[in-house]
Amino acid sequence: MNLTEFSKSAGAAVGMDVDTLVIRGGKPLQGRITMKGAKNLVTKAMVASLLADSPSELRSVPQISDVRVVQGLLELHGVTVDRDGDTLRFDPSNVRTAHETSINAHAGSSRIPILFCGPLLHQLGEAFIPDLGGCHIGDRPIDFHLEVLRNFGAVVEKLPSGIRMSAPNGLHGAKIALPYPSVGATEQVLLGAVRAKGRTELTNAAVEPEILDLIAILQKMGAEIQVDTDRTIRIEGVDKLVGYRHTALFDRNEAASWACAALATGGDVFLEGARQPEMTTFLNVYRKAGGAFEIEDDGIRFWHPGGDLKPVVVETDVHPGFMTDWQQPLVVALTKATGISIVHETVYEQRFGFTEALVEMGAQIQIHTDCLGSHACRFGARNYQHSAVIAGPVELHGADVTVPDLRGGFSHLVAALTADGTSRISNVGIIARGYERFIEKLTTLGADFDVEG
Ligand code: EPZ
Repeated sequence: MNLTEFSKSAGAAVGMDVDTLVIRGGKPLQGRITMKGAKNLVTKAMVASLLADSPSELRSVPQISDVRVVQGLLELHGVTVDRDGDTLRFDPSNVRTAHETSINAHAGSSRIPILFCGPLLHQLGEAFIPDLGGCHIGDRPIDFHLEVLRNFGAVVEKLPSGIRMSAPNGLHGAKIALPYPSVGATEQVLLGAVRAKGRTELTNAAVEPEILDLIAILQKMGAEIQVDTDRTIRIEGVDKLVGYRHTALFDRNEAASWACAALATGGDVFLEGARQPEMTTFLNVYRKAGGAFEIEDDGIRFWHPGGDLKPVVVETDVHPGFMTDWQQPLVVALTKATGISIVHETVYEQRFGFTEALVEMGAQIQIHTDCLGSHACRFGARNYQHSAVIAGPVELHGADVTVPDLRGGFSHLVAALTADGTSRISNVGIIARGYERFIEKLTTLGADFDVEG
């Protein structure tokens, strides 16, 4: 699937037949919008429903295409999925093996299928996953995942069409040390270990809030999981899990994106459902850059308080660090700051591709292979272009831009909203992967744009 086909299918999955936004920049975003459950929790919680022997209910589910992809895969495996507003119900009583060709229809659309392995191996003794997709922000290997599954006793067979696995004697607990605190590999361990025979000990685990929310769900299902202060997770396997009822944690990536859009456009937005505890690192940087916020019981207000924005030095990192998914819209706001800002990306080796379009719009951004942060990361010695130097303030001007990936694409929308003149942003379907009803939200916030099919 090429990028345009991917964009069309992601948009179509949520009933969006828009390919291009023609944005006239210069209007501050103002108003109130609602944040729903986090993409990076909801999709995993949906997979967890496969582990139960009774139905589950997940609330605050956003209408995004990644949710549709996971729903499609669950249905192929015999899970009945019903939607009632923002609530999804999953009945796993008839889980069955799916045809490889039907599974392959989902090839390239998401990274989540890799997380089906543990639950399917428990339920069926076998699993097949297609070629993975997700955003093109580096190599995105799955070696940690496959190693975890082998540690649990799975037999892994790589085929040209995908990966086939089996565990005729079931999965057993294991001692696992991750080479890097990968979010997905930590989730792979959790979803595999909860029903494996015996004890699992995972060291160097990731402990993002979305992972802790997944652990909360698994605990509701009957799992025994302990998280230690040194990021070691201990899991005692159990024979059976029951369904859960859970309201998903809000999407802090979506919230950070709209917050940066408010700052970059000189606007003022209230994000209903956003919470402080999961965003404290973001809030520190937002304030340092000259943004203002106010925490309320039902959400957070973000605004540009007037005056100059200030340059910042930021390093992306695993939790509780500054998330890699927050840097793209922040970079746009930093083009408005007076002075030199630095963003050192330490999670993905190739996550500054989106800045090319910003440069076309007049931004002064240079990308370097050196580690321009306070510590050297694993990418410095490998010559990856992973540090950005942003000089400001500059007035961006409109341009024709093609969305390259989810977060980069959102940052292009923000850039167009701040720019002088008109921009045409195409392949916006990709943004529907992770931003619910973003076109409606732009309208609510007073953006000036037209849509094209
Ligand atoms: C999750 O990706 C998120 N995706 C990402 O969000 C997020 O940026 C990332 O975590 C970090 O927070 C979902 O939850 C669906 P990782 P994941 O495994 O789990 C390397 C977004 O825009 N690695 O923590 O795939 C990897 O290449 C997205 O919402 C291996 O080397 O991320 C990367 O450099 C994008 N081998 C690092 O670890 C592996 O087997 C961290 O990746 C797995 C990962």
